[in-house]
Amino acid sequence: MKPVKIGICGLGTVAGGTINVLKRNAELISGRAGCAIDIVQVGSRKLKDHVDLAGIDFTTNVLDVASNPEVDIVVELMGGYDTALEVVMTALKNGKHVVTANKALIAVHGNEIIELAQSKNLVVAFEAAVAGGIPIIKAIREGLSANAISSVAGIINGTGNFILTEMREKGRDFADVLKEAQALGYAEADPTFDVEGIDAAHKLTILASVAFGVPLQFDAAYTEGISKLSTVDIEHAGELGYTVKHLGICRLHPEGIELRVHPTLIPSDKLLASVNGVKNAVLVESDAVGQTLYYGAGAGAEATASAVIADLVDVARVINSSAHAAVPELGFKPKHVKALPVLPMEQVSSAYYLRVLAKDRPGVLAKVASILSDKGINIESIMQRESEEHDGVIPMMLVTHVVCESAINSAIAEIESLADISGSVVRIRIEHF
Ligand code: HSE
Repeated sequence: MKPVKIGICGLGTVAGGTINVLKRNAELISGRAGCAIDIVQVGSRKLKDHVDLAGIDFTTNVLDVASNPEVDIVVELMGGYDTALEVVMTALKNGKHVVTANKALIAVHGNEIIELAQSKNLVVAFEAAVAGGIPIIKAIREGLSANAISSVAGIINGTGNFILTEMREKGRDFADVLKEAQALGYAEADPTFDVEGIDAAHKLTILASVAFGVPLQFDAAYTEGISKLSTVDIEHAGELGYTVKHLGICRLHPEGIELRVHPTLIPSDKLLASVNGVKNAVLVESDAVGQTLYYGAGAGAEATASAVIADLVDVARVINSSAHAAVPELGFKPKHVKALPVLPMEQVSSAYYLRVLAKDRPGVLAKVASILSDKGINIESIMQRESEEHDGVIPMMLVTHVVCESAINSAIAEIESLADISGSVVRIRIEHF
């Protein structure tokens, strides 16, 4: 079989990993693909010392790669929106398949990219965009293709999970752990994407689309990060039997989908609760097989390269097969993609952990409980702590049963308006899975 020729745009962490793994495992990769995968050109603004480009043409103009007649597959590993979009659209217009690790690009511009690719009978593959090395897109689109999937929930930002784990286990400072995650190459160029949940929302948007066969709707995702999480809530949650994780959750309803990223309490005995460090995990709930859990490295050079190369192998097989046998990008043939909207958070139901700072006097707890009961909110447990830090004010932690977000919002507003309550109520959603 003729070698498949690829051009790589970008020369950062993931590109370096991809070039190294393609060279190191060249023989076994070609055995799986049915042909050699040759890197003919790399485009990047700058050369990087850590990558050996011997025998590979180098250009500082990434658009050269997208229009290079030698190239069969353009591998977009630059990240970002603008230039990446131009490269991908140019590559498709020039009849090239595309492999990308760019979750932001797919989450935001995926619909137009996929439409162009499908109109030209080309493949756009983005396994590396979600959960690094975990083959979750392949698992959902292919391994679970018999199933009606009802929900997907995951720890899909390694940096955030690394920070939460270090804070919980070692009491380390948020900023200090973030710096380490950046040095290790886990964090995004703009780390607010990690700590404010934007990166997780990009990935969740893609997961929801492949799980439910709906268009990509990043703008409608609810996004709440970990930057405002306080260590006291992580400790109190632990005492109540929960672990705080930053989760992306999507759930299918007849009238729309939930699409939300936020800190979440999970019962500490659930497997997801013990996913620590930079590791990612995705829990899929589906009708035939039930729950399946996918765990592994969610970031890092070679872990992400593993997913990039798996896509290259798939596309190489398509190029070398007589029929166009590619799996549809969103798992469903275009006419079966459903235009379901994302539901507003007010319509989402969840259990809640609430932390209320109350004056230490008789009847305050009764007033809080009565507000909750008036709204039909059932309390599962209450914990009260003495606090030396707040003069005459004590923290009360309440765990509720499942309730609609609109009810908890209105209860919180009433609780905050009580004269005996100080400051804002801390609210973290709980999922029992
Ligand atoms: N910044 C991302 C993370 C990298 O920490 O998970 C992988 O997408």
